[in-house]
Amino acid sequence: MLAPGPTEGDGGCPGANERLSRSGTTPLAAASPRLDARSEDLREALGGPRPGAASDTLRGVRLIDDLEAEHATIERVVGSLVTFAARCLSGAGLAADAAGYLRFFRLYAGRYHHAREDGVLFPALVRETGAPGDRGPIAVLQADHRAMERLLEELAALADRVDAAEGAVAFQALAMRYATALLHHIDAENSVLLPEAAARFRGAVVLELPGREPDAEETAARDEGERLVRAHPPTDVTGFDRGDGCCACPAYGNPCEGIEREWWSELEWEDARERLGSQ
Ligand SMILES: [Fe+2]
Ligand SMILES: [Fe+2]
Repeated sequence: MLAPGPTEGDGGCPGANERLSRSGTTPLAAASPRLDARSEDLREALGGPRPGAASDTLRGVRLIDDLEAEHATIERVVGSLVTFAARCLSGAGLAADAAGYLRFFRLYAGRYHHAREDGVLFPALVRETGAPGDRGPIAVLQADHRAMERLLEELAALADRVDAAEGAVAFQALAMRYATALLHHIDAENSVLLPEAAARFRGAVVLELPGREPDAEETAARDEGERLVRAHPPTDVTGFDRGDGCCACPAYGNPCEGIEREWWSELEWEDARERLGSQ
């Protein structure tokens, strides 16, 4: 047996094939330290994109590009929130700015961005490509959305107390939990979910998905986020590991087995084995 199948034992780090989508060259293209020899063989053997694989020039679904661009905006505001929360500890935080961050994350990150993933992207993946919606990456990412909503509500309860020392400590601790969760989430979507979705939509000849522009409130929230980025320049968040691929995702191994094991069909595994065997 040349490659780990969906029902077999550990064969390396799932999720590495998203770099295929970015490079348009080799499946499982970006090696993870956890890739074992069999997976290395597999990656080398799969010298061209498997059917349906996307490349940067072939990504046709605008919603995916929009979501990725929004991640960059959201990530900047996450970094700014971290700066702001630290400033609160030294008495330099303002409750008005805390409320601004909440509006950004509730309206722009939540009501606009996450809602289009939950309401358009994930259902389309299930409907059009047969991706499982009740387990694996989609279930994990949807659960992330709900968990982050709850964290945000906890943060909201502290927002008007950031001017006081005790409130600032609590706000900063919770802001870091929220920032960590959101950055992990963005990493998983950017490096695994979105490239894989682009490949599968292309394979299913889905060239466009419904989209919309942000409404007036969401636009105002985004603009406020950009103002906060200028007022509190983003801090690189340290103290936890970030990275591409399923191995960097906190859900990898429990409850998600990685995108290849969760999503690949027998046909895809067979194709991989055949191409490996022809080398
Ligand atoms: Fe998401
Ligand atoms: Fe997202």
